[in-house]
Amino acid sequence: PTGYYIEKYRPQYHFTPEEKWMNDPNGLVYNDGVYHLFYQYYPDSTVWGPMHWGHAVSEDMMKWKHKPVALFPDKNGYIFSGSAVVDHNNTSGFGTEEKTAIVAIFTYHDMAGEQAGTKDFQTQGIAYSLDNGDSWTKYKGNPVIGNAGIKDFRDPKVFWNDKAEIWTMLLVAGDHLQIWNSPNLKEWEKVSEFGKGPGAHGGVWECPDLFPLKIEGTDEVKWVLLISINPGAPNGGSGTQYFIGDFDGTTFTTEQIEHKWVDLGRDNYAGVTYNDAPNNERIFVGWMSNWDYARDTPTEKWRSAMTIPRKLSLRKVGDEVALFNYPLQNFEKHVALAYPESVIEISPTRKRILPIKYGNQSKIQFTLPVPNTQLYFRNKNGDSLSIDIDREKKIVTLDRRKSGKVDFSEKFSPGVQQMKIPNIPEGTIEIVMLLDHSSLELFINGGQYVMTNQIFPTEFFRAITIVNTSDEELKIEDFTEHKVERV
Ligand code: FRU
Repeated sequence: PTGYYIEKYRPQYHFTPEEKWMNDPNGLVYNDGVYHLFYQYYPDSTVWGPMHWGHAVSEDMMKWKHKPVALFPDKNGYIFSGSAVVDHNNTSGFGTEEKTAIVAIFTYHDMAGEQAGTKDFQTQGIAYSLDNGDSWTKYKGNPVIGNAGIKDFRDPKVFWNDKAEIWTMLLVAGDHLQIWNSPNLKEWEKVSEFGKGPGAHGGVWECPDLFPLKIEGTDEVKWVLLISINPGAPNGGSGTQYFIGDFDGTTFTTEQIEHKWVDLGRDNYAGVTYNDAPNNERIFVGWMSNWDYARDTPTEKWRSAMTIPRKLSLRKVGDEVALFNYPLQNFEKHVALAYPESVIEISPTRKRILPIKYGNQSKIQFTLPVPNTQLYFRNKNGDSLSIDIDREKKIVTLDRRKSGKVDFSEKFSPGVQQMKIPNIPEGTIEIVMLLDHSSLELFINGGQYVMTNQIFPTEFFRAITIVNTSDEELKIEDFTEHKVERV
Protein backbone atom coordinates (compact mmCIF):
# COMPACT_ATOMS: atom_id res chain seq x y z
CA PRO A 1 0.00 0.00 0.00
CA THR A 2 1.07 3.55 -0.64
CA GLY A 3 0.15 6.66 1.26
CA TYR A 4 -0.65 6.75 4.92
CA TYR A 5 -3.46 7.10 7.40
CA ILE A 6 -4.09 10.78 7.74
CA GLU A 7 -5.94 10.90 11.05
CA LYS A 8 -3.89 12.65 13.66
CA TYR A 9 -1.78 10.19 15.70
CA ARG A 10 -3.09 7.12 13.84
CA PRO A 11 -0.26 4.56 13.80
CA GLN A 12 0.79 3.40 10.35
CA TYR A 13 1.95 -0.10 11.20
CA HIS A 14 0.65 -0.89 14.67
CA PHE A 15 -2.73 -2.44 15.26
CA THR A 16 -5.48 -0.01 16.26
CA PRO A 17 -9.25 -0.53 16.35
CA GLU A 18 -11.02 1.38 13.60
CA GLU A 19 -12.79 3.34 16.29
CA LYS A 20 -13.55 3.47 20.02
CA TRP A 21 -11.85 2.15 23.12
CA MET A 22 -9.42 -0.78 23.24
CA ASN A 23 -7.31 -2.25 26.04
CA ASP A 24 -5.74 -5.69 26.64
CA PRO A 25 -5.05 -8.22 23.88
CA ASN A 26 -7.23 -11.30 24.48
CA GLY A 27 -7.66 -14.81 23.09
CA LEU A 28 -4.37 -14.85 21.20
CA VAL A 29 -4.50 -18.07 19.23
CA TYR A 30 -3.37 -19.36 15.85
CA ASN A 31 -5.73 -21.64 13.97
CA ASP A 32 -6.00 -22.81 10.38
CA GLY A 33 -3.60 -20.27 8.89
CA VAL A 34 -4.96 -17.36 10.90
CA TYR A 35 -3.66 -15.40 13.86
CA HIS A 36 -6.54 -14.15 15.96
CA LEU A 37 -6.35 -10.96 17.93
CA PHE A 38 -9.25 -10.40 20.28
CA TYR A 39 -9.10 -7.43 22.56
CA GLN A 40 -10.89 -5.63 25.37
CA TYR A 41 -13.26 -3.36 23.54
CA TYR A 42 -16.01 -0.87 24.26
CA PRO A 43 -17.82 -0.17 20.97
CA ASP A 44 -19.82 2.80 22.26
CA SER A 45 -17.14 5.16 23.49
CA THR A 46 -13.45 6.10 23.44
CA VAL A 47 -13.23 5.50 27.19
CA TRP A 48 -13.46 2.20 29.07
CA GLY A 49 -16.98 0.86 29.59
CA PRO A 50 -18.95 -2.40 29.38
CA MET A 51 -16.32 -4.74 27.98
CA HIS A 52 -16.71 -6.76 24.80
CA TRP A 53 -14.14 -8.76 22.87
CA GLY A 54 -13.24 -6.97 19.65
CA HIS A 55 -11.70 -9.15 16.94
CA ALA A 56 -9.20 -8.96 14.11
CA VAL A 57 -7.39 -11.61 12.05
CA SER A 58 -4.10 -11.72 10.23
CA GLU A 59 -1.95 -14.12 8.28
CA ASP A 60 1.32 -12.44 9.16
CA MET A 61 0.66 -10.57 12.42
CA MET A 62 1.19 -7.24 10.66
CA LYS A 63 -1.71 -6.72 8.29
CA TRP A 64 -4.95 -7.08 10.21
CA LYS A 65 -8.49 -7.46 9.01
CA HIS A 66 -11.15 -6.08 11.32
CA LYS A 67 -13.94 -8.49 12.25
CA PRO A 68 -17.28 -7.95 13.99
CA VAL A 69 -17.33 -7.90 17.79
CA ALA A 70 -16.91 -11.49 18.98
CA LEU A 71 -18.25 -11.49 22.54
CA PHE A 72 -20.90 -9.26 24.08
CA PRO A 73 -21.76 -8.74 27.76
CA ASP A 74 -24.61 -10.92 29.02
CA LYS A 75 -26.50 -11.47 32.25
CA ASN A 76 -23.34 -12.74 33.94
CA GLY A 77 -21.52 -9.49 33.27
CA TYR A 78 -19.01 -7.72 31.07
CA ILE A 79 -16.47 -9.82 29.18
CA PHE A 80 -13.06 -9.16 30.70
CA SER A 81 -9.68 -10.46 29.59
CA GLY A 82 -8.93 -14.07 28.81
CA SER A 83 -7.51 -16.50 26.30
CA ALA A 84 -8.51 -18.97 23.59
CA VAL A 85 -7.50 -22.53 22.74
CA VAL A 86 -8.07 -24.84 19.81
CA ASP A 87 -9.73 -27.96 21.18
CA HIS A 88 -8.05 -30.39 18.76
CA ASN A 89 -9.24 -33.51 20.62
CA ASN A 90 -12.73 -32.19 21.25
CA THR A 91 -12.34 -32.61 25.00
CA SER A 92 -15.16 -30.08 25.51
CA GLY A 93 -17.58 -31.82 23.19
CA PHE A 94 -18.27 -28.47 21.48
CA GLY A 95 -16.68 -29.68 18.24
CA THR A 96 -18.30 -31.93 15.63
CA GLU A 97 -17.02 -34.63 13.27
CA GLU A 98 -16.06 -31.98 10.72
CA LYS A 99 -15.48 -28.92 12.85
CA THR A 100 -12.86 -28.18 15.47
CA ALA A 101 -13.91 -25.79 18.21
CA ILE A 102 -11.99 -22.75 19.31
CA VAL A 103 -12.85 -22.18 22.94
CA ALA A 104 -12.54 -18.75 24.55
CA ILE A 105 -12.06 -18.58 28.31
CA PHE A 106 -12.73 -15.19 29.88
CA THR A 107 -13.70 -13.37 33.04
CA TYR A 108 -17.25 -12.24 33.67
CA HIS A 109 -17.36 -8.96 35.53
CA ASP A 110 -20.72 -8.33 37.18
CA MET A 111 -20.93 -4.56 37.49
CA ALA A 112 -24.07 -4.62 39.63
CA GLY A 113 -22.31 -6.94 42.06
CA GLU A 114 -19.32 -4.66 42.25
CA GLN A 115 -21.51 -1.62 42.83
CA ALA A 116 -23.43 -3.45 45.54
CA GLY A 117 -20.12 -3.90 47.34
CA THR A 118 -19.92 -7.68 47.03
CA LYS A 119 -16.55 -9.35 46.53
CA ASP A 120 -17.62 -12.22 44.32
CA PHE A 121 -18.41 -10.29 41.14
CA GLN A 122 -15.74 -11.85 38.93
CA THR A 123 -16.27 -15.40 37.63
CA GLN A 124 -14.94 -17.34 34.67
CA GLY A 125 -16.92 -18.26 31.58
CA ILE A 126 -16.37 -19.97 28.24
CA ALA A 127 -17.69 -19.67 24.68
CA TYR A 128 -16.94 -21.59 21.50
CA SER A 129 -16.71 -21.04 17.77
CA LEU A 130 -17.00 -23.67 15.05
CA ASP A 131 -16.15 -21.32 12.17
CA ASN A 132 -12.63 -20.24 13.07
CA GLY A 133 -13.73 -17.33 15.22
CA ASP A 134 -16.44 -15.75 13.07
CA SER A 135 -19.38 -16.57 15.35
CA TRP A 136 -19.50 -17.49 19.02
CA THR A 137 -21.84 -19.39 21.32
CA LYS A 138 -21.64 -18.97 25.07
CA TYR A 139 -21.68 -22.16 27.13
CA LYS A 140 -25.02 -22.72 28.87
CA GLY A 141 -23.33 -23.84 32.07
CA ASN A 142 -21.50 -20.54 32.61
CA PRO A 143 -19.84 -19.55 34.80
CA VAL A 144 -17.50 -22.53 34.85
CA ILE A 145 -15.59 -21.18 37.86
CA GLY A 146 -17.55 -19.30 40.48
CA ASN A 147 -16.13 -16.95 43.05
CA ALA A 148 -15.57 -17.72 46.71
CA GLY A 149 -15.20 -14.11 47.78
CA ILE A 150 -12.00 -12.95 46.08
CA LYS A 151 -12.33 -9.37 44.87
CA ASP A 152 -9.87 -9.46 41.95
CA PHE A 153 -10.22 -12.89 40.38
CA ARG A 154 -9.60 -12.81 36.68
CA ASP A 155 -7.79 -13.01 33.35
CA PRO A 156 -7.71 -16.79 32.70
CA LYS A 157 -4.90 -17.97 30.43
CA VAL A 158 -5.48 -21.55 29.34
CA PHE A 159 -3.00 -23.78 27.52
CA TRP A 160 -2.65 -27.50 26.79
CA ASN A 161 -0.38 -28.92 29.47
CA ASP A 162 1.71 -31.68 27.85
CA LYS A 163 3.20 -32.73 31.15
CA ALA A 164 -0.10 -33.61 32.79
CA GLU A 165 -2.10 -34.18 29.57
CA ILE A 166 -4.72 -31.74 30.74
CA TRP A 167 -5.86 -28.14 30.24
CA THR A 168 -4.18 -25.73 32.60
CA MET A 169 -5.54 -22.33 33.56
CA LEU A 170 -3.62 -19.48 35.15
CA LEU A 171 -5.85 -17.16 37.10
CA VAL A 172 -4.87 -14.14 39.15
CA ALA A 173 -6.42 -13.68 42.57
CA GLY A 174 -5.52 -10.23 43.90
CA ASP A 175 -1.90 -10.55 44.96
CA HIS A 176 -1.12 -14.03 43.67
CA LEU A 177 -1.55 -16.61 40.94
CA GLN A 178 -3.74 -19.69 41.02
CA ILE A 179 -3.29 -22.68 38.76
CA TRP A 180 -6.32 -24.77 37.84
CA ASN A 181 -6.60 -27.93 35.72
CA SER A 182 -9.43 -29.35 33.65
CA PRO A 183 -9.94 -32.36 31.38
CA ASN A 184 -12.68 -30.67 29.33
CA LEU A 185 -12.55 -26.86 29.80
CA LYS A 186 -15.80 -27.03 31.76
CA GLU A 187 -14.91 -28.61 35.10
CA TRP A 188 -11.96 -27.05 36.86
CA GLU A 189 -9.94 -27.92 39.91
CA LYS A 190 -7.46 -25.68 41.67
CA VAL A 191 -4.08 -27.40 41.93
CA SER A 192 -1.57 -24.82 43.17
CA GLU A 193 -0.75 -21.20 43.94
CA PHE A 194 2.23 -18.93 43.41
CA GLY A 195 3.27 -15.47 44.41
CA LYS A 196 2.38 -14.83 48.03
CA GLY A 197 5.78 -13.32 48.65
CA PRO A 198 7.92 -13.31 45.50
CA GLY A 199 7.63 -10.63 42.89
CA ALA A 200 6.59 -7.02 42.72
CA HIS A 201 3.35 -6.30 44.56
CA GLY A 202 2.79 -2.59 44.03
CA GLY A 203 -0.66 -3.31 42.62
CA VAL A 204 -3.02 -6.17 41.78
CA TRP A 205 -1.73 -9.00 39.65
CA GLU A 206 -3.32 -9.18 36.20
CA CYS A 207 -3.06 -11.02 32.89
CA PRO A 208 -0.83 -14.02 33.69
CA ASP A 209 0.92 -16.24 31.15
CA LEU A 210 3.21 -19.26 31.49
CA PHE A 211 5.19 -21.09 28.82
CA PRO A 212 8.37 -23.08 28.26
CA LEU A 213 11.33 -21.72 26.32
CA LYS A 214 14.62 -23.32 25.49
CA ILE A 215 17.62 -21.27 26.59
CA GLU A 216 19.20 -20.43 23.25
CA GLY A 217 22.29 -22.42 22.41
CA THR A 218 21.50 -25.09 25.04
CA ASP A 219 19.04 -27.93 25.54
CA GLU A 220 17.82 -26.54 28.79
CA VAL A 221 14.17 -25.58 29.03
CA LYS A 222 12.89 -23.04 31.53
CA TRP A 223 9.36 -21.81 32.18
CA VAL A 224 8.58 -18.13 32.03
CA LEU A 225 5.72 -16.62 34.01
CA LEU A 226 4.42 -13.21 32.97
CA ILE A 227 2.43 -11.14 35.46
CA SER A 228 1.17 -7.66 34.75
CA ILE A 229 0.73 -5.37 37.71
CA ASN A 230 -1.10 -2.11 38.09
CA PRO A 231 0.11 0.12 39.64
CA GLY A 232 3.68 -0.68 40.68
CA ALA A 233 5.74 -0.59 37.47
CA PRO A 234 9.27 0.82 37.88
CA ASN A 235 8.48 3.96 35.87
CA GLY A 236 4.98 4.33 37.26
CA GLY A 237 1.55 2.84 36.69
CA SER A 238 1.17 -0.39 34.73
CA GLY A 239 3.95 -2.82 33.84
CA THR A 240 4.70 -6.47 33.20
CA GLN A 241 7.10 -8.48 35.33
CA TYR A 242 8.45 -11.94 34.63
CA PHE A 243 9.79 -14.90 36.55
CA ILE A 244 12.05 -17.62 35.18
CA GLY A 245 11.53 -20.97 36.85
CA ASP A 246 10.12 -24.48 36.48
CA PHE A 247 6.69 -25.98 36.07
CA ASP A 248 6.10 -29.65 36.88
CA GLY A 249 2.62 -29.80 35.37
CA THR A 250 1.00 -28.59 38.58
CA THR A 251 3.19 -26.08 40.37
CA PHE A 252 5.41 -23.19 39.29
CA THR A 253 8.60 -22.62 41.28
CA THR A 254 11.39 -20.10 40.95
CA GLU A 255 14.58 -19.16 42.71
CA GLN A 256 14.46 -15.69 41.27
CA ILE A 257 14.72 -13.00 43.91
CA GLU A 258 15.03 -9.71 42.05
CA HIS A 259 12.17 -8.19 40.04
CA LYS A 260 12.47 -8.46 36.28
CA TRP A 261 10.45 -6.55 33.71
CA VAL A 262 9.58 -7.34 30.11
CA ASP A 263 9.77 -3.68 29.11
CA LEU A 264 10.95 -0.63 31.00
CA GLY A 265 9.00 1.91 28.97
CA ARG A 266 5.64 3.07 30.22
CA ASP A 267 3.40 1.70 27.48
CA ASN A 268 3.49 -2.05 27.29
CA TYR A 269 0.86 -3.61 29.48
CA ALA A 270 -1.24 -6.77 29.83
CA GLY A 271 0.92 -8.51 27.21
CA VAL A 272 0.45 -12.24 26.69
CA THR A 273 1.46 -14.82 24.10
CA TYR A 274 -0.12 -16.91 21.35
CA ASN A 275 -1.34 -20.45 21.79
CA ASP A 276 -0.45 -22.84 18.94
CA ALA A 277 1.80 -20.43 17.01
CA PRO A 278 3.59 -22.17 14.12
CA ASN A 279 7.17 -23.41 14.60
CA ASN A 280 6.81 -23.27 18.36
CA GLU A 281 7.41 -19.56 18.25
CA ARG A 282 6.50 -17.64 21.39
CA ILE A 283 4.83 -14.48 20.14
CA PHE A 284 3.96 -11.66 22.50
CA VAL A 285 1.61 -8.72 22.01
CA GLY A 286 1.06 -5.99 24.61
CA TRP A 287 -1.37 -3.13 24.94
CA MET A 288 0.59 0.03 24.21
CA SER A 289 -0.78 2.13 27.05
CA ASN A 290 -0.79 2.62 30.80
CA TRP A 291 -3.77 2.85 33.16
CA ASP A 292 -2.22 6.03 34.58
CA TYR A 293 -3.46 8.00 31.56
CA ALA A 294 -4.95 5.52 29.05
CA ARG A 295 -8.34 7.23 29.14
CA ASP A 296 -6.88 10.68 28.48
CA THR A 297 -4.60 10.27 25.45
CA PRO A 298 -5.30 12.86 22.73
CA THR A 299 -6.74 10.68 19.97
CA GLU A 300 -10.29 11.31 18.91
CA LYS A 301 -11.80 8.46 16.99
CA TRP A 302 -10.11 5.53 18.72
CA ARG A 303 -7.97 4.92 21.76
CA SER A 304 -4.67 3.08 21.87
CA ALA A 305 -2.67 0.59 19.85
CA MET A 306 -0.96 -2.78 20.35
CA THR A 307 2.83 -3.19 20.47
CA ILE A 308 4.57 -4.58 17.45
CA PRO A 309 4.30 -8.39 17.80
CA ARG A 310 7.46 -9.69 19.41
CA LYS A 311 9.28 -12.95 19.53
CA LEU A 312 10.29 -13.97 23.04
CA SER A 313 13.49 -15.88 23.71
CA LEU A 314 15.63 -16.88 26.67
CA ARG A 315 19.31 -16.12 26.44
CA LYS A 316 22.30 -16.46 28.72
CA VAL A 317 24.08 -13.18 29.33
CA GLY A 318 27.02 -13.75 31.63
CA ASP A 319 25.67 -15.77 34.56
CA GLU A 320 22.17 -14.60 34.02
CA VAL A 321 19.32 -15.92 31.92
CA ALA A 322 17.17 -13.13 30.54
CA LEU A 323 13.95 -12.84 28.56
CA PHE A 324 14.55 -11.02 25.28
CA ASN A 325 11.72 -9.54 23.22
CA TYR A 326 12.24 -8.36 19.69
CA PRO A 327 10.06 -7.61 16.63
CA LEU A 328 8.85 -10.71 14.88
CA GLN A 329 10.67 -11.70 11.70
CA ASN A 330 7.48 -10.97 9.70
CA PHE A 331 7.83 -7.33 10.61
CA GLU A 332 10.83 -7.16 8.27
CA LYS A 333 8.58 -7.95 5.30
CA HIS A 334 6.96 -4.58 5.80
CA VAL A 335 10.23 -2.73 6.04
CA ALA A 336 10.56 -1.21 2.61
CA LEU A 337 13.04 1.35 1.37
CA ALA A 338 16.35 1.79 3.14
CA TYR A 339 18.11 5.12 3.51
CA PRO A 340 21.61 4.35 4.71
CA GLU A 341 23.92 7.12 5.89
CA SER A 342 27.56 7.05 5.00
CA VAL A 343 30.00 6.52 7.87
CA ILE A 344 29.32 8.90 10.75
CA GLU A 345 32.26 10.05 12.84
CA ILE A 346 31.70 12.17 15.94
CA SER A 347 34.39 13.40 18.32
CA PRO A 348 33.84 13.46 22.08
CA THR A 349 31.22 16.06 23.15
CA ARG A 350 30.32 16.75 19.48
CA LYS A 351 27.09 15.93 17.70
CA ARG A 352 25.64 15.15 14.28
CA ILE A 353 22.13 15.90 13.08
CA LEU A 354 20.63 13.44 10.63
CA PRO A 355 17.33 13.83 8.79
CA ILE A 356 14.45 11.48 9.50
CA LYS A 357 12.44 11.01 6.34
CA TYR A 358 9.52 9.02 7.68
CA GLY A 359 8.83 10.28 11.16
CA ASN A 360 5.49 8.52 11.20
CA GLN A 361 6.55 5.15 9.79
CA SER A 362 10.18 4.44 10.38
CA LYS A 363 12.62 1.84 11.57
CA ILE A 364 15.98 3.27 12.58
CA GLN A 365 18.83 0.89 13.09
CA PHE A 366 22.54 1.14 13.81
CA THR A 367 25.29 -0.30 15.95
CA LEU A 368 26.90 1.71 18.66
CA PRO A 369 30.49 1.09 19.61
CA VAL A 370 31.29 3.69 22.28
CA PRO A 371 29.96 3.54 25.81
CA ASN A 372 27.91 6.73 26.08
CA THR A 373 25.63 8.36 23.55
CA GLN A 374 22.61 10.62 23.54
CA LEU A 375 19.91 10.63 20.90
CA TYR A 376 17.34 13.38 20.33
CA PHE A 377 14.39 13.31 18.01
CA ARG A 378 13.26 16.77 16.90
CA ASN A 379 10.64 18.38 14.70
CA LYS A 380 10.07 21.88 13.38
CA ASN A 381 7.79 22.78 16.27
CA GLY A 382 10.61 22.16 18.69
CA ASP A 383 9.19 18.97 20.18
CA SER A 384 11.95 16.70 21.37
CA LEU A 385 12.28 13.18 22.64
CA SER A 386 15.60 12.19 24.13
CA ILE A 387 17.30 8.92 24.96
CA ASP A 388 20.51 8.93 26.96
CA ILE A 389 22.43 5.67 26.83
CA ASP A 390 25.04 5.61 29.60
CA ARG A 391 26.82 2.30 29.51
CA GLU A 392 29.32 3.34 32.16
CA LYS A 393 26.62 4.08 34.73
CA LYS A 394 24.57 1.29 33.17
CA ILE A 395 21.43 3.29 32.78
CA VAL A 396 19.21 4.47 29.93
CA THR A 397 17.15 7.60 30.50
CA LEU A 398 14.24 8.47 28.28
CA ASP A 399 12.64 11.90 28.43
CA ARG A 400 9.32 12.55 26.72
CA ARG A 401 8.41 15.59 28.77
CA LYS A 402 8.74 17.88 25.73
CA SER A 403 7.83 15.34 23.08
CA GLY A 404 4.69 17.14 21.91
CA LYS A 405 1.25 16.96 23.47
CA VAL A 406 1.80 15.89 27.05
CA ASP A 407 -0.58 18.07 29.03
CA PHE A 408 -3.61 15.79 28.65
CA SER A 409 -2.59 14.09 31.88
CA GLU A 410 -0.23 14.99 34.70
CA LYS A 411 0.70 11.36 34.89
CA PHE A 412 1.91 11.09 31.30
CA SER A 413 5.39 12.49 31.88
CA PRO A 414 5.91 13.68 35.41
CA GLY A 415 9.65 12.96 35.08
CA VAL A 416 12.18 11.04 33.03
CA GLN A 417 12.06 7.28 32.70
CA GLN A 418 14.99 5.14 33.70
CA MET A 419 16.03 1.66 32.72
CA LYS A 420 18.96 -0.10 34.37
CA ILE A 421 21.12 -2.08 31.97
CA PRO A 422 23.35 -4.03 34.39
CA ASN A 423 24.21 -6.81 31.96
CA ILE A 424 24.78 -4.80 28.82
CA PRO A 425 27.74 -6.32 26.96
CA GLU A 426 30.94 -4.41 26.35
CA GLY A 427 31.69 -3.38 22.79
CA THR A 428 29.27 -2.78 19.98
CA ILE A 429 25.55 -3.03 20.65
CA GLU A 430 22.61 -2.88 18.29
CA ILE A 431 20.01 -0.14 18.53
CA VAL A 432 16.66 -0.56 16.80
CA MET A 433 13.94 2.06 17.12
CA LEU A 434 10.46 1.67 15.70
CA LEU A 435 8.95 5.08 15.26
CA ASP A 436 5.29 5.25 14.35
CA HIS A 437 3.05 8.28 14.48
CA SER A 438 2.34 7.96 18.18
CA SER A 439 4.87 5.51 19.59
CA LEU A 440 8.55 4.73 19.89
CA GLU A 441 9.78 1.23 20.67
CA LEU A 442 13.44 1.04 21.59
CA PHE A 443 15.22 -2.33 21.42
CA ILE A 444 18.78 -2.50 22.73
CA ASN A 445 21.05 -5.41 21.93
CA GLY A 446 18.52 -7.57 20.13
CA GLY A 447 15.77 -7.09 22.68
CA GLN A 448 17.75 -7.55 25.89
CA TYR A 449 16.54 -4.16 27.08
CA VAL A 450 13.36 -2.62 25.74
CA MET A 451 11.42 0.58 26.25
CA THR A 452 8.01 1.15 24.66
CA ASN A 453 6.40 4.55 24.85
CA GLN A 454 3.51 6.47 23.43
CA ILE A 455 4.32 9.93 22.13
CA PHE A 456 2.11 12.64 20.65
CA PRO A 457 4.41 14.97 18.71
CA THR A 458 2.66 18.02 17.25
CA GLU A 459 4.15 17.07 13.86
CA PHE A 460 6.32 14.20 12.66
CA PHE A 461 9.87 14.04 13.93
CA ARG A 462 12.19 15.22 11.17
CA ALA A 463 15.67 14.78 12.58
CA ILE A 464 17.72 12.79 15.01
CA THR A 465 20.73 14.27 16.77
CA ILE A 466 23.46 11.92 17.91
CA VAL A 467 25.68 13.31 20.66
CA ASN A 468 28.92 11.61 21.60
CA THR A 469 28.90 11.84 25.40
CA SER A 470 31.90 9.57 25.89
CA ASP A 471 35.61 10.42 25.71
CA GLU A 472 36.33 8.21 22.72
CA GLU A 473 35.78 8.82 19.01
CA LEU A 474 32.37 7.59 17.90
CA LYS A 475 32.16 5.87 14.55
CA ILE A 476 28.82 4.58 13.29
CA GLU A 477 29.19 2.67 10.06
CA ASP A 478 25.72 1.31 9.51
CA PHE A 479 23.13 3.97 10.40
CA THR A 480 20.01 3.25 8.34
CA GLU A 481 16.51 4.58 8.34
CA HIS A 482 13.93 2.31 6.76
CA LYS A 483 10.47 3.22 5.73
CA VAL A 484 7.92 0.82 7.19
CA GLU A 485 4.89 0.21 4.99
CA ARG A 486 1.53 1.22 6.24
CA VAL A 487 -0.38 -1.97 6.98
C1 FRU B 1 -5.86 -5.24 32.60
C2 FRU B 1 -7.30 -5.39 33.04
C3 FRU B 1 -7.63 -6.84 33.30
C4 FRU B 1 -9.11 -6.89 33.08
C5 FRU B 1 -9.31 -5.90 31.96
C6 FRU B 1 -10.60 -5.16 32.01
O1 FRU B 1 -5.60 -4.08 31.88
O2 FRU B 1 -7.55 -4.61 34.17
O3 FRU B 1 -7.20 -7.31 34.55
O4 FRU B 1 -9.56 -8.17 32.75
O5 FRU B 1 -8.21 -4.99 32.02
O6 FRU B 1 -10.81 -4.42 30.85
